[in-house]
Amino acid sequence: MRILVLGSGAREHAIILALRSEDAPHELFAAPGNAGIARDATIVELDPLDPQAVAGFAIERLVDLVVIGPEAPLVAGVADALRGRGIPVFGPGKAAAQLEGSKAFAKRVMDAAGVPTGRALRARTTADVEAAFDALGAPHVVKADGLAAGKGVVVTSDRAAALAHAEAYLPTGPVLVEEFLDGPEVSLFFLSDGDHVLPLSPAQDYKRLRDGDAGPNTGGMGAYSPLPWLSERFGGEDEFVDLVTRTVAEPVVRQLDAEGTPFIGLLYAGLVLTDDGVKVIEFNARFGDPETQVVLPRLVDPLSQLLLAAASGNLEDHARPAFADAVAVTVVVASEGYPDKPVTGRVIEGMDAAASIPGVHLAHAATSVADSGLVATGGRVLSVVALGTTFDEARDRAYHAVDGITLEGSQHRTDIAAGVGA
Ligand code: AMP
Ligand code: GLY
Repeated sequence: MRILVLGSGAREHAIILALRSEDAPHELFAAPGNAGIARDATIVELDPLDPQAVAGFAIERLVDLVVIGPEAPLVAGVADALRGRGIPVFGPGKAAAQLEGSKAFAKRVMDAAGVPTGRALRARTTADVEAAFDALGAPHVVKADGLAAGKGVVVTSDRAAALAHAEAYLPTGPVLVEEFLDGPEVSLFFLSDGDHVLPLSPAQDYKRLRDGDAGPNTGGMGAYSPLPWLSERFGGEDEFVDLVTRTVAEPVVRQLDAEGTPFIGLLYAGLVLTDDGVKVIEFNARFGDPETQVVLPRLVDPLSQLLLAAASGNLEDHARPAFADAVAVTVVVASEGYPDKPVTGRVIEGMDAAASIPGVHLAHAATSVADSGLVATGGRVLSVVALGTTFDEARDRAYHAVDGITLEGSQHRTDIAAGVGA
């Protein structure tokens, strides 16, 4: 197949590596890509946010499938433009992508579909915010509506800080004050063709910058999959996945279909396992990063077939995707100053040696080739991914690789997948 992947992160590199690992040889294009992706796909000079440009390229080059990695092209209507011209595309249209972009939209859909989530109150004024804090209690969760790339959320027991956060966003529109959901978080991805869903294997993301879940929220500093501890609570991973498929993914996809905005693409359910049951904390309309880097290497079925089936409305004919027993761990290497003000332009060394460690591969995020060599061009620079038969083995391999990579001032967590089990 000829496949175009839009995006430039480690998630997109992971998607491309999964496509490359299939028996069938694909012709892979990427825009805008990065230095790692350039080794595994042909980089195309194309603005991924320009719907007509993407559709024009797909038609001209007879592309069989377009896979949209990040949210921004979805919001820009790239999937709508492609679908309108009959090109199979894995990614929802602008309207359904609001499930991620608008927290208020997501809450309304969940209410209509009867999906369990925390209580949320919309606040337009400081007085509304204060009233919502009183009604929902501490810790306080305040979310800006709309796109804030993870920065719009604050979770704190410090009422003054929560109020200040809300007041920073109020001039631009209402904020949501949410009930705090207490419990472990799980990311579970579903492929959706607008009608049917197929679950992937769950993963755990580490959102905070520093060890022990300290520091600011980030895009994600590491991840692992599968989650052996789910078995204690649910009897097994399959039981958990069945429950979430039935109570979350299917009702939401049915609801969006009934509203005339079918969701075709990747439904990312961010879940909290509360004492009161599994509840949705957020939806994303795309693969998660860094979770994708640990989920896709374990996928046994050819990814291209699944994505094409979703894009073409044919998931009903597919069995639930199978996953290898191997475990996967990823550690994100980030630039100094991430997430606030990442320092860019510094040289990265030791990559080849790191990638030669058994079971290890590197998914590039913000890298480019300069005269000085490979340089970091953004916050999250690399996902170091390791597979193993046990978590101890995968962790050892991942950290051995991380230790061999040098990037001045770089940051990484040292506790990814710690204590998960042997
Ligand atoms: P979001 O942008 O909605 O994904 O939120 C980012 C992170 O903030 C989540 O992954 C959680 O760790 C935390 N968070 C968001 N909403 C809540 C909530 N209602 N209760 C507890 N933690 C939350
Ligand atoms: N890892 C969180 C996200 O992709 O949104």
